[in-house]
Amino acid sequence: MKVVPTIAELRKELAKARNTAFVPTMGNLHEGHLSLVRRARELAGPKGPVVTSIFVNRLQFAPHEDFDTYPRTFERDCELLRSAGCDIVFAPNEAELYPEPQGYKVQPPSELADILEGHFRPGFFTGVCTVVLKLFNCVQPASAVFGKKDYQQLMVIRRMVAQLALPLHIEAGETTRADDGLALSSRNGYLSEAERAEAVQLSRALADVKRALHNGERDIAALEKRAMNTLSVRGWKPDYVVVRRQVDLQPPQGGEPLVVLAAAKLGTTRLIDNVEV
Ligand code: PAF
Repeated sequence: MKVVPTIAELRKELAKARNTAFVPTMGNLHEGHLSLVRRARELAGPKGPVVTSIFVNRLQFAPHEDFDTYPRTFERDCELLRSAGCDIVFAPNEAELYPEPQGYKVQPPSELADILEGHFRPGFFTGVCTVVLKLFNCVQPASAVFGKKDYQQLMVIRRMVAQLALPLHIEAGETTRADDGLALSSRNGYLSEAERAEAVQLSRALADVKRALHNGERDIAALEKRAMNTLSVRGWKPDYVVVRRQVDLQPPQGGEPLVVLAAAKLGTTRLIDNVEV
């Protein structure tokens, strides 16, 4: 496995590559990321290279968010990536990826990017799309793997790839969960022991909504409110628990595949999760 810090070196490494599979990350890797890398390994086949990027992207953090304290665990990340079958780690520093302030940005459509996460984190998806497009330009992959854990991000990227006719396939990776059901996330590391024990309640709230929908409950507003209330009573500060259409994250019209999405703060840690219905 090679660690490549510059775009020029990356291009040289990949000059003759075919069927490159790519997993963009911000590092601080866990089993969830590694499952995406293993999926990339399958997509690349025996001959295609698997590239993982590690870059904490300032553009997607608001000034009050955790850019400075976001855990940087580069050596450990590289060991994990090697064991998961990664061939190249693209690890540019900020001066390499943003040698001057990034004036050209990708503005995703408001109806998809200004709802849910985008509502609570204005500009977040502009930052994500801008860096992901730039990384795609550097790596030029045949496929890229994004986790369903960040469901809205996956949708936003899929739409960007379709609308800009980018020549790659976007693959969705399933969410990896701890034994108790908590979705693995780099930010779980911020939780105290007591918070970690409580954190499972987020996935339970989603599972309750899913069960109610399967049982034929159709008052979606009431279900969402009940889930928000359950979390609030336990001391969470929920931003949203909503039932949306999988296809475009808009409110359901009836009969289409659904997804339940939630974001809530436990102490100072904001967690997100979702479950397809
Ligand atoms: O999901 C992430 O880790 C980031 O949003 C991504 C896709 C690597 C872009 O910085």
